Amino acid sequence: MCPTDGAGLRTEVATASKPASHDAPDVSSPIQDYLDGLHRQLADVTSGKVATYIPELAKADPSAFGIAIATVDGRVYEVGATRERFTIQSISKPFVYGIALADHGIERVRQSVGVEPSGDAFNSISLEPGTGRPMNPMINAGAIATTSLVKGDGAAERLARVVSAMSAYAGRALTIDDAVFESERATGHRNRAIGHMLRNYDILTEDPDAALDLYFRQCSVLVDCRDLALMAATLANGGTNPATGKVAVAPEYVGPILSVMTTCGVYDFTGEWVYRVGLPAKSGVGGGIVAVLPGQLGIGVYSPALDERGNSVRGVKACEAISRELGLHFLRPPRASVSTIRARYSLAEVRSKRRWPTAESQLLAEHGGAARVFELQGDLRFATIEPVLHEIVAGTEGLQFAVLDFKRVTHVDLAATQMLSALISRCAARGQQVVLTRVRRGDLLAALDTAMDPRAVRAVSFHPQMDLGLEYCERALLRRHGIGKLAPAVVTLAEHRLCEGAAPEDIAYLETLVGRVAFEPGDDVVRRGDPADAIHLLMRGEVSVTVDLPGGGHKRLSTLSAGMSFGEMALLSGGLRSADVRADTTVECRTVDVAAFSRIERERPALAILLLRNLLRRSTETAVRLTGEVAALEG
Ligand code: DON
Repeated sequence: MCPTDGAGLRTEVATASKPASHDAPDVSSPIQDYLDGLHRQLADVTSGKVATYIPELAKADPSAFGIAIATVDGRVYEVGATRERFTIQSISKPFVYGIALADHGIERVRQSVGVEPSGDAFNSISLEPGTGRPMNPMINAGAIATTSLVKGDGAAERLARVVSAMSAYAGRALTIDDAVFESERATGHRNRAIGHMLRNYDILTEDPDAALDLYFRQCSVLVDCRDLALMAATLANGGTNPATGKVAVAPEYVGPILSVMTTCGVYDFTGEWVYRVGLPAKSGVGGGIVAVLPGQLGIGVYSPALDERGNSVRGVKACEAISRELGLHFLRPPRASVSTIRARYSLAEVRSKRRWPTAESQLLAEHGGAARVFELQGDLRFATIEPVLHEIVAGTEGLQFAVLDFKRVTHVDLAATQMLSALISRCAARGQQVVLTRVRRGDLLAALDTAMDPRAVRAVSFHPQMDLGLEYCERALLRRHGIGKLAPAVVTLAEHRLCEGAAPEDIAYLETLVGRVAFEPGDDVVRRGDPADAIHLLMRGEVSVTVDLPGGGHKRLSTLSAGMSFGEMALLSGGLRSADVRADTTVECRTVDVAAFSRIERERPALAILLLRNLLRRSTETAVRLTGEVAALEG
């Protein structure tokens, strides 16, 4: 045993960029307090005996006891002898199984090693009658067969691969305890017999001593309790070490590894373990136990006093208590705590940032219910996408557009992708459209491309911003209701909304006062921070009002077309422009500056009032619309 840097009670936060340092300061938390209490409680348990069949292991201190929990975010909580090193022993087996799977693929490995629990002790000679195939990779026979599958040019390279893979799980460079290795090599007659038996059945195709030598060395890798927690957390995290961010094993092998840990990890105690603890696990005669809660955390316990089956007595009790008291049994999964649908509303309630002329606006208010928006969140898998599909399919009469926003979606698994693709096909058959907004490229998009029926492609459209997805629906809805020409491209002063109700002589009077400016597509019409000295009446073309976002890029506040105006603030309070306005097309504006408006107020006060009243009406309409949007978004 190698005592190291003095274990105390501590919690660490390890991040991907900066792996946890062993000298990190103590951070107290309720979880730390819980672990401290559990450690105190179980320290009194003195039953069990250290392993002696490998003579070097007999030197272990039976009172040594550490517990560590590592989360998939890389936080480590630990108490007791968590930095005392000991040999990993059988806990190496699932990790080496991962190497064999990566080297040969699942099918080839299964030809050499089964996946059935033997219900026998770790050193039993449980071979399939006839074939000689070991029952599973967790018993010694299966582990030796697994180890023989590790590829490499010579013993040194194979060993280096084993140690390096385990180091990736632990997040630090692991080493071997040569004394324990020599001790086991000198006394491991039973394993040697198993090796030769495997050679007899051609399960081993090499000299059994080569496989046994590598197996004894993998068992002698030195770890501490914190390493075990991080190794388990790496499996919980889909194969990527949560502290270093490095991939230790490809995600497709994590399921097979955890499966054999679940069914065979603690040998002839496995049924009891699953019943009482309910976490994939592996024990070792060095006194370690790892347990994994997929997607959440890894547990490492060290206490070398073993029960008659070779499992750490305190280790079993600690895992049982943690599982029971923290509610971790994998067959009692929590219900999803938040709904996948974060907000739902229709286009009648929330619109794009394009301002439509009155007729179009009224039509959208009337028919906007045919476009339903679902803002999704969290991980999409069968259970979380099912309610979304149900609402779209069963809950919305007259649905023509289903807008699914992915901004807050964290992951989409294969089943959810296939369900989504089936939804698109179904919508295609019914003449409905699925509008997907803010989907990250290379994530869902790539998977959908392969999953989707090519005939359904016309029923789906992608938009980088939700605003653009909504505008897409608005245009399509207007087209479906016969409004093909979406906005008048040019208006006269008499036709402009600001002048609504003005007498012809007032228009003629205004013609003499208003300025005229023109812009090409892409030109800045107004820059944020410029003095607000004139209201712009848009006579031709379209402009977009935008604000810069702190993280780069910009957000559209509105798109305006001929007949609308912007920069009203100039007439009321002056000050500085609050947003940028850019020409989307060729644009012509008439402008009423502050001096011109003062003149209108003096010379034609009734006209000034009419202009202000028209401005106020538009502002009120905007306020009412925004109030409705806030209510819909909050609801
Ligand atoms: O094969 C052996 O005997 C040891 N090197 C490993 C056994 C072991 O850890 C069993 N697990 N509880």
